[in-house]
Amino acid sequence: RVVILDFGSQYGHLIARRVRELGVYSEVLPHNAPLAQILRHRPRGVILSGGPASVYEPGAPQCDPGLWHAGVPVLGICYGMQLMVHQLGGRVARAEEREYGPATLEVEEPGRLLAGLGPRLDVWMSHGDRVETLPPGFTVLARTAASPFAAVEGGGGRWLGVQFHPEVGHTPRGREILANFLYGVCGCRGGWTMAGFVEEAVPALRRQLEGARALCALSGGVDSTVAAVLVHRAIGPRLACVFVDTGLLRAGEVEEVQESLVGLGIELRVVDARDRFLAALDGIADPEAKRKAVGETFIRVFEEEARQLAEELGPIPFLVQGTTYPDVIESGGGAAATIKSHHNVGGLPPDLAFRLVEPLRYLFKDEVREVGRRLGLPEAVVQRQPFPGPGLAIRMAGPVTAERLERLRACDRIVREEIRRAGLEGRLWQAFAVLTGTPTVGVMGDRRTYGEAVAVRAVTSGDGMTADWARLPHEVLDRIARRLANEVEGVNRVVYDITSKPPATIEWE
Ligand code: XMP
Repeated sequence: RVVILDFGSQYGHLIARRVRELGVYSEVLPHNAPLAQILRHRPRGVILSGGPASVYEPGAPQCDPGLWHAGVPVLGICYGMQLMVHQLGGRVARAEEREYGPATLEVEEPGRLLAGLGPRLDVWMSHGDRVETLPPGFTVLARTAASPFAAVEGGGGRWLGVQFHPEVGHTPRGREILANFLYGVCGCRGGWTMAGFVEEAVPALRRQLEGARALCALSGGVDSTVAAVLVHRAIGPRLACVFVDTGLLRAGEVEEVQESLVGLGIELRVVDARDRFLAALDGIADPEAKRKAVGETFIRVFEEEARQLAEELGPIPFLVQGTTYPDVIESGGGAAATIKSHHNVGGLPPDLAFRLVEPLRYLFKDEVREVGRRLGLPEAVVQRQPFPGPGLAIRMAGPVTAERLERLRACDRIVREEIRRAGLEGRLWQAFAVLTGTPTVGVMGDRRTYGEAVAVRAVTSGDGMTADWARLPHEVLDRIARRLANEVEGVNRVVYDITSKPPATIEWE
């Protein structure tokens, strides 16, 4: 396996992904992880990610300098390469010409990193600083017009640096460069798959949980279900599962969740907390405030339930969560900027009496699905579309009321029914309705109506980090629009959201 040190790159998560796609398990650690922590993972190699800082500025993120004497090959990407050069005695300075976008790499001496790739490569650059002088013992492998040190090698071939980003799609042969590092330099064998993940995760969980009980809050989504099944596989009935009915769920969801879990031998305690969530959300219109209100109420309800369970069963020191890597990144848990506070990461109080167990923390959604399949979960569960923790509360502009929740649930059911009927479900990341809060004028049966515009959102995505609006067939959109306006009280206009992410997000709030 390899360890990736995260310096806050926008592309940091992509490195982890590419490495795993090459069949090598990767763990992402914060850039300042002490050497002992890095070595505990027994890495065959370490990759330093890019990042927004400048190495010569005071307070710039560093890695443990002991890394250079640990006998482990290191690949520095962009900032990671600059840091390598800086820490080993070379010089980095602001570039006169910042280099963003495509560039042509001229290979001078391929070494092991650029072996078999030919003399010229298209690469993607994104940097404002550049290496001015190399540390002793380093040589140049390749240059671009603006960067004389675009790929370098030192330490007898153990230390490698690239100024460009091999992990992005715009570096078409980046995959081969990463493969050269992993297989050629680090001696990794590849072949790691999600089956390997399950094989490693189950005994690791058993060790982590030390014979104690754990509690899992199931939301019915893929993430928490897979996390629960994985932990159930490790500790069996010592895992207790609770499902909080927030009243912010989709139509029929509570029943569906219960059914799918019974089939897996997992018992579920359903807590009806609908009124408490409504009360907590009363009068709140701001999206982040809604998220907070839901998150805090959730934790409180859950803690009460946990206390009761502990009285019945004995102490429960561990809490299982289905946190995945995109949650971690978007909540600022990695070093990248905070975009939305996902309540399953941001809302936990610091005095929480549980120790967290997050077995999916470094996986992407499609990887979580694959793990689910390996665990024998039915396809209906594995393919379930993601649903945000704050639920329908963040799919309506303005305050949440029981009446608006009913309206949105009715709209959502229609959207999902029509998508399913058209056989499109498996091809979409998500498809749902949003109450826009925009009052609009309509006409029905010769009478003026004053209702609310509903938006339909359907997106395709690989991991939820980026997304494109789905080119739904016009007939499907037509059926959805007709049904929404005809069947749902108070809806007199339907719009289709045609923005991608970025610049929009998938959810409206
Ligand atoms: P955005 O709207 O940030 O959503 O593009 C990306 C993915 O994350 C889901 N999402 C959430 N999931 N708690 C969650 O558990 C949240 O607060 C939350 N907000 C968004 C969203 O449904 C999409 O799949």
